[in-house]
Amino acid sequence: MVSSKFDVTGKHCIVTGGAQGLSRGMAEGLLEAGCKVVLVDVQEEKLNQVVAEYREKGYEAYGVAGNLADRNDIDRIFNKSMEILEGKLDVLIPAAGIQRRHLPEEFPLADWDLVININLNHVFIMIQKALKVMLAQPSGGKIINIGSMVTWFGGTTVPAYTATKGAVSQLTKSLAVDCAGRNININCICPGYMDTEMCSNMDQSRRDECTVRIPAGRWGTPEDLKGPVLFLASSASDYLNGTTIPVDGGYLVK
Ligand SMILES: NC(=O)c1ccc[n+]([C@@H]2O[C@H](COP(=O)([O-])OP(=O)(O)OC[C@H]3O[C@@H](n4cnc5c(N)ncnc54)[C@H](O)[C@@H]3O)[C@@H](O)[C@H]2O)c1
Repeated sequence: MVSSKFDVTGKHCIVTGGAQGLSRGMAEGLLEAGCKVVLVDVQEEKLNQVVAEYREKGYEAYGVAGNLADRNDIDRIFNKSMEILEGKLDVLIPAAGIQRRHLPEEFPLADWDLVININLNHVFIMIQKALKVMLAQPSGGKIINIGSMVTWFGGTTVPAYTATKGAVSQLTKSLAVDCAGRNININCICPGYMDTEMCSNMDQSRRDECTVRIPAGRWGTPEDLKGPVLFLASSASDYLNGTTIPVDGGYLVK
């Protein structure tokens, strides 16, 4: 039997980027545990398929398609999600993210703006909206941000991505200080090297270089994030505020 500390049954959640990859895995973990989850993604067709698959399994999944790079659309996305969730929001995971690779001297500024808009601005805007709901409900809420190994490291040819993932962990700390005493937990998960579409553009020699450095001996998968997400979404983590948790097979400590 699962300890009641980890019970998230009936919680209302929003996960951005849910059509695939890590966001999908995190949303799936919450659905399997009995949550009602709105998945948000710009890939409408894929999102609808994923949601249909979950509903067939009897899960309470809903899709809201939209572009998180567009501030006006974020307003619409959030309002629609809250309509579906009947005004109650327990867990927000603003996980959608993109990566663009160029040498710094050639990095197109349009790509810079896009990465910042999605990986950092959408995170703060969604959190600000979520806080207005969560602070007004006696049960408070849980916010789980998504960093990366480049929250610590520099990476290579990903200056915008690295800047946003460093910023997300600092944002987590700043928000946690202001919200910890108000029944809101804000923490950050930093996945290591995970097998998703995002990393499919890495060449084999760079992939091998990363694999050798992972003490667990393998890349992570969306499945590997389910446990940490359930912990941070449940009352088991009520005294965690502003932490940055690597989920990386030991990459960071080697
Ligand atoms: N894969 C990794 O190794 C890794 C490691 C550390 C952190 N992360 C982070 O995890 C998160 C998910 O990454 P992933 O590997 O699953 O990536 P992914 O590319 O597989 O999935 C990202 C999802 O976000 C959606 N998305 C992108 N732009 C959007 C927009 N403007 N509006 C709405 N949705 C949009 C995409 O359609 C896609 O479904 C990201 O924040 C990423 O930075 C990934």
